[in-house]
Amino acid sequence: MSPRLRHLTTLENLPRETIERLLDRANRCATPAPTAPAQADVLAGRTVLNLFFEPSTRTRTSFELAARRLGADVVNFDIGLSSTSKGEELFDTLHTLEAMHLDAIIVRHKQSGTPDELVRHAMSGVSVINAGDGNHAHPTQGLLDALTIRQHRPDFENLTVVICGDISHSRVARSDINAFTALGMKEIRLCAPPELMPGTNEVPQGRRFDDFDAAIEGADAVLMLRLQKERMASIELPDEAAYFARYGLDRRRLALAAKGCLVMHPGPINRGIEIASDVADGAQSRILEQVGNGVFVRMAVLNEVLAR
Ligand code: NCD
Repeated sequence: MSPRLRHLTTLENLPRETIERLLDRANRCATPAPTAPAQADVLAGRTVLNLFFEPSTRTRTSFELAARRLGADVVNFDIGLSSTSKGEELFDTLHTLEAMHLDAIIVRHKQSGTPDELVRHAMSGVSVINAGDGNHAHPTQGLLDALTIRQHRPDFENLTVVICGDISHSRVARSDINAFTALGMKEIRLCAPPELMPGTNEVPQGRRFDDFDAAIEGADAVLMLRLQKERMASIELPDEAAYFARYGLDRRRLALAAKGCLVMHPGPINRGIEIASDVADGAQSRILEQVGNGVFVRMAVLNEVLAR
């Protein structure tokens, strides 16, 4: 059996067995009832801290719900009200928080590599879970996307997925690619404007496309990404209407995919920019299932790193 994880900062190089163990556990959290009594005290007496230096709706809330459903105490660290805004160094913040005997720190940071830095600098036995760092990794999103696909199509070896949009700034895309590769996905296609496509030195996997019509043809799942403008330095982008015309998912394009193609997006979605409203809300949309699975995956990860 692959060893139990102490931290989760990336899916890169995780064995397939570990990923499958987490997905299987997430599925057990999903059925029959998320609040089944057997779950409720797994993490009793444990304390989990949400340390988010970037905004978040889904990830932070679902980590909090996941921890509570397992009986842990949760503290939401408010950056705006903290000494971080007085210039306290990250590692001083870390050691201060560790002195309060935390069991896990869930961190989101704009700087790639921050969760790994925290692992290196931690002085206590605290576990670090990455909730998104720069464009590097978002491991629980990668897991929840894999879980959502697996619930509909467990035959990964027959599946083609397309990831379309701002891949170069997307930590979600990187973690998805790691998860899908480990699980033996038949084909991963990447579609992005040339200025938003990472080089093969950075992301070696995937077949690259600039033409979304060609990329989506026969695909079994399509994962749309937001234009992450907050991470762009000085890229000249086409205006929103021109972007949507070339890289947006609408009904005409979805019809080019395989029948029943799963429509996915990590959120937040920008209607009419990367995805048409009727597709986001349509019968093939799995976007809200992804959100629900986020809680189960985070329960599985907390259980992995914290259960005694
Ligand atoms: C993503 C993120 O923060 O990386 N959101 C999320 O966690 N669901 C994607 C994004 O912000 O576009």
